[in-house]
Amino acid sequence: MRPGAGTAPGATVAEQLGAATARLEAAGIVSARTDAELLAAHAAGTDRGGLQRLVLMRGDWPAGAGERFAALVAERADRVPLQHLTGRAPFRGLDLAVGPGVFLPRPETELLAGLAVDELRAVAAAGGSPVAVDLCTGSAAVPLALVDEVPGARLAAVELDPHAHAWAARNVERLGDGRVELLLADVARAGELLPHLLGGCAVVTANPPYIPDDAVPVDPEVAEHDPALALYGGPDGLRVLRVCVAVAAGLLAPGGLLVLEHAEPQCAGVADVLARSGGWTDVEHHDDLTGRPRATSARRAPAATVGD
Ligand SMILES: C[S@@+](CC[C@H](N)C(=O)[O-])C[C@H]1O[C@@H](n2cnc3c(N)ncnc32)[C@H](O)[C@@H]1O
Repeated sequence: MRPGAGTAPGATVAEQLGAATARLEAAGIVSARTDAELLAAHAAGTDRGGLQRLVLMRGDWPAGAGERFAALVAERADRVPLQHLTGRAPFRGLDLAVGPGVFLPRPETELLAGLAVDELRAVAAAGGSPVAVDLCTGSAAVPLALVDEVPGARLAAVELDPHAHAWAARNVERLGDGRVELLLADVARAGELLPHLLGGCAVVTANPPYIPDDAVPVDPEVAEHDPALALYGGPDGLRVLRVCVAVAAGLLAPGGLLVLEHAEPQCAGVADVLARSGGWTDVEHHDDLTGRPRATSARRAPAATVGD
């Protein structure tokens, strides 16, 4: 047994949780207690509520759970992402299946999804068709949230990486109800592959890879475990985003909404991409829950003004 793994013979679940929390803190993990509880619940085959009951009633681990917990804590202390260990990632109301090979959905992307939900609901309420395309879909977090939250919404989702696409397909199979069409393709081909949607979409969303190639993330969970294709977006980080803007221009109906996620310092760069593309109005930057601008929306101008 590795010292500090939290599996000392005779230790209670509470004591093991305390030891695991200390070990994860020492490994530099900010959310050490939460991670320890989620790993313990996963090892015990329960949720956090079930774990709390076990702790309060001074119960024992189910058979083998203590050993599983110790092994998971050791991996997490090596900075393997929590979601790779539990196999699950929460996203808005959903519980997505994730693992090595797919970008882990982030809380800030819930903001992008929320903007798209509001728009699609408004379109549906006004008697329009809540049809949308999600570019660079990863685990399919965004399109699945949209069909989950907007009755009648129909989505197409595009992903280039076959490993990520396989996770998306799993999630669409588990959580979709036939309203998400998933494509394995480069976003540059989205218009050609979705001719029936050209000029007819109410919303296009994209969370493309946007980290500049020379800016390697500090956290090992990101640098070593998120796929490079999901992270890096060329010298200025905006290479794929430029393609998404060009493709969205063809997919959106006049007045349709484009929502893009990006890094905080990229607001001016994204506004510049939209200005150079032409035919966009109402460009707005949106803050995440920590007050940082992490998404930009723009409306497709009415046909008469595009190219003026
Ligand atoms: C930052 S991740 C976002 C994933 C997902 N939308 C989310 O928010 O969790 C970017 C995704 O874009 C995919 N990607 C990168 N370049 C692409 C391209 N040219 N065409 C389609 N997908 C691409 C990556 O494989 C990755 O899954």
